[in-house]
Amino acid sequence: MDKLIIQGGQRLNGEITISGAKNAALPILCASLLAETPLELSGVAALKDIDTTIKLLDTMGVKIARNGDKVSLDASEVASFEATYEMVKTMRASILVLGPLLTRFGTARVSLPGGCAIGSRPVDLHIKGLQALGAAIHITHGYIQASTLHLPNRRLQGARYYMDLVTVTGTENLMMAASLAEGTTVLENAAKEPEVVDLAECLIKMGAKITGAGSDVITIVGVEKLNGANHNIVCDRIEAGTYMVAAAMTGGEVKLNNARADLLDAVIKKLRYAGAEVKVGKDTITVKSDGNLKAVNIRTAPHPAFPTDMQAQFMALNTVADGVAKVTETIFENRFMHVQEMQRLGADISIDGNTALVKGVEFLDGATVMATDLRASASLVLAGLVARGETVVERIYHLDRGYEQLEEKLTKLGAKVRRSN
Ligand code: UD1
Repeated sequence: MDKLIIQGGQRLNGEITISGAKNAALPILCASLLAETPLELSGVAALKDIDTTIKLLDTMGVKIARNGDKVSLDASEVASFEATYEMVKTMRASILVLGPLLTRFGTARVSLPGGCAIGSRPVDLHIKGLQALGAAIHITHGYIQASTLHLPNRRLQGARYYMDLVTVTGTENLMMAASLAEGTTVLENAAKEPEVVDLAECLIKMGAKITGAGSDVITIVGVEKLNGANHNIVCDRIEAGTYMVAAAMTGGEVKLNNARADLLDAVIKKLRYAGAEVKVGKDTITVKSDGNLKAVNIRTAPHPAFPTDMQAQFMALNTVADGVAKVTETIFENRFMHVQEMQRLGADISIDGNTALVKGVEFLDGATVMATDLRASASLVLAGLVARGETVVERIYHLDRGYEQLEEKLTKLGAKVRRSN
């Protein structure tokens, strides 16, 4: 299994370009299932999770052509309406095919995701939402079996649905399902994440009637059919945020191209509080720091509050900052798995329930560490960039799921990083 070997202590300097957002590309790739003509996408990053989604759509009969960051998806002849356990267990976001398959073809069979490293992460709200639109759903042999065959015209029926918890993929699944339903759907307590907005923008280009995406009430007036469109995936705010923290921690100056500050308000505010200088341009963000950072408290919550996907990276920042920080995780119940590994690098962190108390230390010492999820792995890379000596981050397939050309981008900025197997 590949590992990343990092020689700590290099300041990062220079500029890189941020890729298209993984979490926008995944639902938008699945949205191709809704369209009768090809969907043409650009800004699709070369990532493991994208490969998995493309493979899944391919098993259903979607014709896919990929050329660099461009992907063309033709779902005019879909032949299978199933996402198997094998697919869903490698990537939980495979659940995003459920809404599109069901609403366009009247039937879908999707495996329940298994336990996930960062918490139990159920999909009950996806299921209840589709039931609110009239779907008949049975869970058998670990599969969600959904059908609309009993409904008028075999179409989902628009409804008002309040989501008990803010769920990103849940909102996306229901928005896609409602796009081809009969009548009007109102999704209340909807997720406001930029990736939900990007999906809505793509669906609107495809002919969907959606208003309110980006607010907590989304209204969808169902249409009879959707067509393909051209769409460029929004930039990855979490990738950008990760490099911003890297610049701040290593005490360098990094300019990010294709980065949108308006999607990163909470992260930028915290970085400035920590003492980094953040300059915002049109589609660029520049972070400059002398490496002397102040501890900064973090509390994760749905957008526009501080993103859970940046929690681990700010934990890394706090391990070497001046003072004591409280890091509170409110979205996922088991998202502190990087803590043990950071402790192996010499970090001073104690956990009490969903809060970690991080006391900044003068330096971290390189060691071999291993992460069990994507953002946790990123946080260990950040720690390795400032640790004394060599840090080996094992199992970097997690990083390959979500960071395009990580070593190349870090190397371009002056980091001493190499991949080995
Ligand atoms: C998405 C992102 C992930 C991010 C997360 C929170 C994608 C592909 N992934 O994941 O990177 O960390 O949002 O911003 O976009 N929940 C339920 N029942 C449900 C659905 C969710 O109880 O049916 C709970 C979850 O267990 C979790 C919370 O709601 O505690 C939020 O999860 P959710 O927003 O659904 O996360 P994902 O969409 O899976």
